[in-house]
Amino acid sequence: MTQPLRLGIAGLGTVGIGVVKIVKKHAALLEARSGRPVTISAVSARTKNKNRDIDISGFAWEADPVALATREDVDVFVELMGGHDGPAKASVEAAIAAGKHVVTANKALLAHHGQELAAAAEAKGVILRFEAAVAGGIPVIKALTEGLAGNEIDRVMGVMNGTCNYILTRMYDADLPYDVVFEEANQLGYLEADPNLDVGGIDAGHKLALLASIAFGTQVNFDAMELEGIQRIQIADIEHAADMGYRIKLLGVAQMTGRGLEQRMSPCLVPASSPLGQLEGGTNMVVIEGDSIGQVVLRGPGAGEGPTASAVMGDVMDLARGFAVSTFGQPADTLRPVRGVKATKSAPYYLRMTLLDKPGAMAKVASVLGDAGVSIDRMRQYGHEDKTAPVLIVTHKTTRDSLDVALTGLEETGVVEGHPVAIRIEEV
Ligand code: HSE
Repeated sequence: MTQPLRLGIAGLGTVGIGVVKIVKKHAALLEARSGRPVTISAVSARTKNKNRDIDISGFAWEADPVALATREDVDVFVELMGGHDGPAKASVEAAIAAGKHVVTANKALLAHHGQELAAAAEAKGVILRFEAAVAGGIPVIKALTEGLAGNEIDRVMGVMNGTCNYILTRMYDADLPYDVVFEEANQLGYLEADPNLDVGGIDAGHKLALLASIAFGTQVNFDAMELEGIQRIQIADIEHAADMGYRIKLLGVAQMTGRGLEQRMSPCLVPASSPLGQLEGGTNMVVIEGDSIGQVVLRGPGAGEGPTASAVMGDVMDLARGFAVSTFGQPADTLRPVRGVKATKSAPYYLRMTLLDKPGAMAKVASVLGDAGVSIDRMRQYGHEDKTAPVLIVTHKTTRDSLDVALTGLEETGVVEGHPVAIRIEEV
């Protein structure tokens, strides 16, 4: 009989259990498709005796994931614990050193240590894959490394944190403030153990850094990313943006410029009628633009048991079939170190400020913008409350530097209360 591909699974949370279920439920299908059985030899998790949705008594138990990673009867170490250091890193390193292939869903680990782990895997002649780390069930790593391998990639964009997209769309649909919807998301179990990973844009930033590496042949450089979360977005911004035909999304954009790699993960306005604008709830979307393909839009579930386990199994099946591809789509030693640069391309911006009801206040605003070289496209002033009025401005395309000069100037006019809000409008 053909030798089975034997898995060792570390981490029996939502995703780990999902993988066990697929291996059990689809044993015949997996064997028919790969030509060999896919089996589980051993598992590891924080707690052994826990009420799980599935029987794991048929698998050997290892309390220590490093011991699991180096077992004789494990061909592929499946790391589903999470965390960018600690047991996840130690066990992945141990697996590679022991000559095991590795499949992981750990975006943080790869965003921080991807280059060294990919190099270690190649030196040892093993494969390290991470489809489930980016955009849950969407096979975007395969799309970039395989299907689009003949393209020079111009730009990668994505809404890749379902929790943030849930919060932003729920605020709009139910007319609820951020704090209330954040608590709802918490009750629903949508938030990571450290919620700042979600709402601070870090989780989505990790994912974008991994896509940028494959797209542009560069070493992962998460530290150089411009990162801003959704915590400052108010219901007023969402409603005003909608009034002007936009939606607010936590959008990642990566593109190569003459000066270096631009990577931004920040709230942006996108046209309400665009595919990104229409993306609802926890769904993810990745948009890839290449010289031959034009634009590809991939949409699907960004988290959850079935979708994430599906992505893990995509990588496992490649290994079962004997298909080998470098972690970031090309040998690790050919990935270029790259400098991160701030957004240099001009874009229109949405500005919201609270204006004091004084003669000449609006004229001062217009003059500060004009002096900074920022031209107004559209402007709205809403009714006064307590001698102030919200004012919205959509600018023509301008650079971030000019905008920053204007924002400082606005705060110094004496007619703008507090800090003006500025959100980039992305052409998608
Ligand atoms: N917390 C992520 C999300 C899923 O909300 O999309 C795991 O990356």
